Amino acid sequence: MVSEKALDQWVVEAITAISRANDLEELKTARLAHAGDKSPIAQASRSLGTAPAEERARLGKMIGEARAAVTAALDSRRDVLEVLRDEKVLQEEVVDVTLPSARGHKGGLHPLTLLKNEICDFFIAQGYGVAEGPELEAEWLNFDALNMHVDHPARTMQDTFFVEPLEARLVLRTHTSPVQIRTMLEKKPPIYVICPGRTYRADELDATHTPVFAQVEGLVVDRGITMAHLKGTLDLFAKEMFGEEAVTRWRPSFFPFTEPSAEVDVLFNGRWIELGGCGMVNPKVLAACGVDSNEYSGFAFGMGLERTLMVRHGITDMHDIVEGDIRFSRSFGVGL
Ligand code: DAH
Repeated sequence: MVSEKALDQWVVEAITAISRANDLEELKTARLAHAGDKSPIAQASRSLGTAPAEERARLGKMIGEARAAVTAALDSRRDVLEVLRDEKVLQEEVVDVTLPSARGHKGGLHPLTLLKNEICDFFIAQGYGVAEGPELEAEWLNFDALNMHVDHPARTMQDTFFVEPLEARLVLRTHTSPVQIRTMLEKKPPIYVICPGRTYRADELDATHTPVFAQVEGLVVDRGITMAHLKGTLDLFAKEMFGEEAVTRWRPSFFPFTEPSAEVDVLFNGRWIELGGCGMVNPKVLAACGVDSNEYSGFAFGMGLERTLMVRHGITDMHDIVEGDIRFSRSFGVGL
């Protein structure tokens, strides 16, 4: 039979353990030990049934009070520990909104690529297709087929990156014009293509030059194509690039692959800017590609993208375009 003294002792032990619990986990352990099914108080409670009838009421009251005291201690300790736990969580999970963002950059398109896309979009809207060719190009396609003879100054070691072994006759293409040739060799007229790509010349990198640069080439071969078509096309293109009020100026020029040839300038911010070279495809080039120049004629043009980008956006140093500093791209509003 349980004594009052023993009960008091259990209550003291329970309250001591409860008050020593430092977190809710420890409190749970204390509750199981001192108020759980196997706790001495619970066992005493279960043994009430076997107690003599006259003792039962008094014992029952005593045990009940002991349980109530333990439960009250558990409840009040739980309240305290819950507050402590909430405070700890708040502290541990605190977010300092003034810290620098750790958001990763997704990357974005280089301004040159954006310009290339813009140019391609313009020509695609006019019904042109896009053709691409390799940067490592056969010398024949880069020069000979374009009527640039062996003694042409552009073929010399100073301008062209020849690639070893020299017998392979490969060069880093010096312009996108070989893609014209590839296109004409591959398909029959009518041809309306635009050929964007990277090109190479042995120049030192400085504020206005780069050995690796970007060009866009255009080629049209069809029946009855005249210089008027070329002029209309590039005049419209100049307006697209530089605004409705853009005016072009056409200067006679020479390219081995066009006859006649011209260079086109655009008036921008009071200055004449060179847009690119162009002309009527030389019948010798058509012949090299198996196109009958009695039936077909064509025009071609080629332009450098770096210069257009520099003029249009007031970039004064080529290094900015080449070096890939993300701050430069970002100033173009690229999604980075
Ligand atoms: N290939 C010439 C260059 O790199 C540019 C050019 C001029 C391309 C006239 C053409 C053209 O197609 O007709 O300087």
